[in-house]
Amino acid sequence: MQGKKLTIPDIITRKNGTPIAEVTVYDYSFARLVDGAGMDIALIGDSLGNVVLGYKDTVPVTMADMIHHTKAVVRGVEHALVVTDMPFGSYNASASEAIANATRLLKEGGADAVKIEGGVTMAPTVRAIVNAGIPVQGHIGLTPQTATSLGGFKVQGKTPEAAHRLLEDAMAMEEAGCFSIVLEAIPAPLGELITSRLAIPTIGIGAGPGCDGQVLVIHDLLGMYDRFTPKFVKQYAQAGQTIAEALSRYKKEVQSRAFPGAEHSFTMQTGALDELRRLY
Ligand code: KIV
Repeated sequence: MQGKKLTIPDIITRKNGTPIAEVTVYDYSFARLVDGAGMDIALIGDSLGNVVLGYKDTVPVTMADMIHHTKAVVRGVEHALVVTDMPFGSYNASASEAIANATRLLKEGGADAVKIEGGVTMAPTVRAIVNAGIPVQGHIGLTPQTATSLGGFKVQGKTPEAAHRLLEDAMAMEEAGCFSIVLEAIPAPLGELITSRLAIPTIGIGAGPGCDGQVLVIHDLLGMYDRFTPKFVKQYAQAGQTIAEALSRYKKEVQSRAFPGAEHSFTMQTGALDELRRLY
């Protein structure tokens, strides 16, 4: 594990310093690996709907899902700031419901902060949550929970009007009290411009190198999710292939009786077996 537990001020002061490394994580064993690698932010993304639960999008993910996975991650993290996604439907109806659900993610889940998708229209809700003492990471650009309204999983902010709206969204989220903001799938020059106009750190995912940090879905970066790989993903390993090969070797060895070997088996006291054989 890597040093002391990171806090919100630690993340904010990285605005003009070393870029912030954020990655998604959904369980204890991966949380230990992520924390051991010295990650700054461990995000329990609602992308768990896709990569862990097998849904086609993040809409069906529930508060119960998020709390369950957040608890598992928190048990494996000592250093990283733990941020949890507020799932679709948990913050959209009213500010009081949003505060109640964000509170559950901290009290029951053990997260340090929550993440919310949305811009100008979501700013009053974000302000209410922040005023309730809960740190919020914003998320604008391609917002997967509302991808259908955005015309699908497409790059956002390509036209001057769309880029202008995203800048307004970013400023509204900063004004509402977000401690950082995720920029997803926007042109690199726009990512750089938004970053230069905000005092809080920007965390890019498909938003170019000009952001204050980067985030990726862990299954994407490890090469473990084969349904779809966005252009902005860099695969740092082919873990899916490695796991598939290991499983197929295991199956073959079980069927050929090459596994388990003597080194994986237990012995008995001398004479105990002879005694049993005599009796049975
Ligand atoms: O749910 C998620 O994993 C996310 C990241 C892609 C930022 O929101």
